[in-house]
Amino acid sequence: MKATCKAHLFVLILITSFRAEAIAPEAVFGESGMVATRSALASQVGADILAKGGNAIDAAVATGFALAVTYPSAGNLAGGGFMVIRLADGTIIANDHRERAPLAATRNMYLDKDGNVVPELSTHSHLAVGVPGTVDGLLDVLEKYGTMSRREVLAPATLLARRGFPIDLDMARDLEAQLPRMSKYPASMAIFSHDGKPWKRGDVLRQKDLAATLERIRAKGRDGFYKGQTAELLVAEMQAGGGLIAQQDLDEYQSVWREPVTGTYRDHQIISMPPPSSGGVLLIQLLNMLEPYDLKAMGFGSADAVHHMVEAERRAYADRAEHLGDPDFFPVPITKLIDKNYALARFADFAPDKSSRSTDIRPGSFPAESPDTTHASFIDKAGNAVAYTTTLNLSYGSKIVASGTGMLLNNEMDDFSAKPDTPNAYGLLGREANAIQPRKRMLSSMTPTIVAKDGKVVLVTGSPGGSTIITTTLQVIVNVIDHGMDLSAAVASPRFHHQWQPDAIIFEKNGLSPDTVKVLNQRGHQGLTPWAYGRGIGDANSVMVLPEGFAGMADPRNPGAALAP
Ligand code: GLY
Repeated sequence: MKATCKAHLFVLILITSFRAEAIAPEAVFGESGMVATRSALASQVGADILAKGGNAIDAAVATGFALAVTYPSAGNLAGGGFMVIRLADGTIIANDHRERAPLAATRNMYLDKDGNVVPELSTHSHLAVGVPGTVDGLLDVLEKYGTMSRREVLAPATLLARRGFPIDLDMARDLEAQLPRMSKYPASMAIFSHDGKPWKRGDVLRQKDLAATLERIRAKGRDGFYKGQTAELLVAEMQAGGGLIAQQDLDEYQSVWREPVTGTYRDHQIISMPPPSSGGVLLIQLLNMLEPYDLKAMGFGSADAVHHMVEAERRAYADRAEHLGDPDFFPVPITKLIDKNYALARFADFAPDKSSRSTDIRPGSFPAESPDTTHASFIDKAGNAVAYTTTLNLSYGSKIVASGTGMLLNNEMDDFSAKPDTPNAYGLLGREANAIQPRKRMLSSMTPTIVAKDGKVVLVTGSPGGSTIITTTLQVIVNVIDHGMDLSAAVASPRFHHQWQPDAIIFEKNGLSPDTVKVLNQRGHQGLTPWAYGRGIGDANSVMVLPEGFAGMADPRNPGAALAP
């Protein structure tokens, strides 16, 4: 990774008693904008676009396409995502290019004859694939708010796919771990293995079919994906493997412009993604519940602060299971859920010295009227800001490459509730609001978020991590606003998570001190469990506005890069 000459290292030291083994994380500084993503190559694409005079939207779209090449575990053409944009003039908009259930989908499509969920049908089969939205969404965003041509912004991704790039250790390990799952799909093995053996660090990954697909999109726009050769290959893959997506699904797919969900927190404006993501609603609900309490005085990582945040999370995630789904199909009570008075009432039974039981927490009610993703943050020198989270759902999605396209297919259908109160891959529960219906978008937790104050952007953030996306985003915001941390510390500091069910607090290794764990246990908290998966909770690649310019921080839990133009 190479920072550009204008960028220089900034804030080197993070001293925390919770993470003694961490290498000092670094944010980078830039005067003319900033890009932070999980992939250094993709960040370079975004920074180059800014350097050429493109705005943050051009950079986000070019980077989105590049991530499909350089970070195929989550970057995608055949997945979906959400983009929250705040233009320099204060206009806020959100693009929803979430996948949809195919027309042939049925409510009980993942259940056997006895009504039980068939293991892995919604995650590792052709039936797991939702109708992709990324290409329609990115092109729509570019057309409305970008300044560069489709050919220009798609050029770097196409080149990276055709010429290839050296596989780093992270990707080599990741791909090796995926091979057993991919081995039944020859088109996946042809790209993501070296003649059936794992790729090694330093090998060059060339993706010729993906380059040709990107070239068709460059030449024909939306029709290069949803019609013609790409569409035919995708539908043929579905037919061969027993999937449901047909040409009519592709013809009908459209991304949707939505009004961002907004709230306030200690004089800051919170701008985030509305349903069909649960992320923005839950984030604002959590901040509303926490606002009356002095988290700063309690102190970062204290048992008091963790107790307050966990109790808020328990209540908000219970509401998620009952009330959140695609608002085009279910009356999601968004206004009620983000109302400060509702938060007060919801938290009225909170006890400062005693944990509640998740079994006692029921979803709130209203009067009748009423796990691999990736996040990238962008800002340009004019102050246009973009928070972008995109996904195939699990790492490398369904693991299925649609033969001849080079594209990995998502397994987003698992984000629906296959059966009421039955956990999905992230342990999340859902009911009627998130039941499967043709054309419906599955509920997400993605939380691309922009924080502003006094009419100016302060922070752009978000994260992958399934159900932990929302609590990761919450913690970055609380670290900045309550604990006064700089961006390096706010992103690097250890995290914890609670999601109502299961009734457990997971925390990063060394993330809670033994004293804190002891006090939480004494208050009755259950299932305090060190997080054992991957490198930590979340991957919050974030950007912050400073008086002198911009700070960018790639989450130090994973490789990635923040780069200035
Ligand atoms: N697939 C993860 C999410 O959308 O929440």
